[in-house]
Amino acid sequence: MSKRTAFWIFVIGTTSSLALFLFLTWDTHRQVNALTHADKLDEQVVAGKHVWEKKNCNNCHTILGFGVYYAPDLTNVYQRIGADGIIAAVQHPEDLYADSFRKMPNLGVTDQEAADLVAFLEWTSNI
Ligand code: HEC
Repeated sequence: MSKRTAFWIFVIGTTSSLALFLFLTWDTHRQVNALTHADKLDEQVVAGKHVWEKKNCNNCHTILGFGVYYAPDLTNVYQRIGADGIIAAVQHPEDLYADSFRKMPNLGVTDQEAADLVAFLEWTSNI
């Protein structure tokens, strides 16, 4: 390959990659509101996120690729076990996981906090 051919492969390769990168970045930003269901981001979902942070659920769980892999990924947990399953897991883990080798601690989640967490986990399962 001549130096000239290598130069044009570099120029065309770099320019087309940059153009594709910029287009895909623009396209992603264009769809953020639709893809995240921003219209369903109500106060209870936000409150659930605050409970999630206050109780440090990320210390053991992963959500949307962020967190720790000790306990199950909770991104789609709402679809897997539903509202009742989530409430049982967060309020009575010692009963639910009595026979499990892994342990989820009872974090003293109140009824209101559990409902908020359900709203947050339902929202994340739909984005
Ligand atoms: C100290 C680690 C730890 C923390 C902190 C923790 N969990 Fe867990 N959680 C676990 C483990 C371990 C399991 C799975 C137990 C098993 O399957 O044996 C679990 C299971 C669950 C499940 C059921 C998952 C499924 O797929 O069935 C939900 C829902 C859940 N946790 C929610 C939460 C929420 C919400 C918080 C924060 C309020 C939280 N957890 C904090 C360890 C933790």
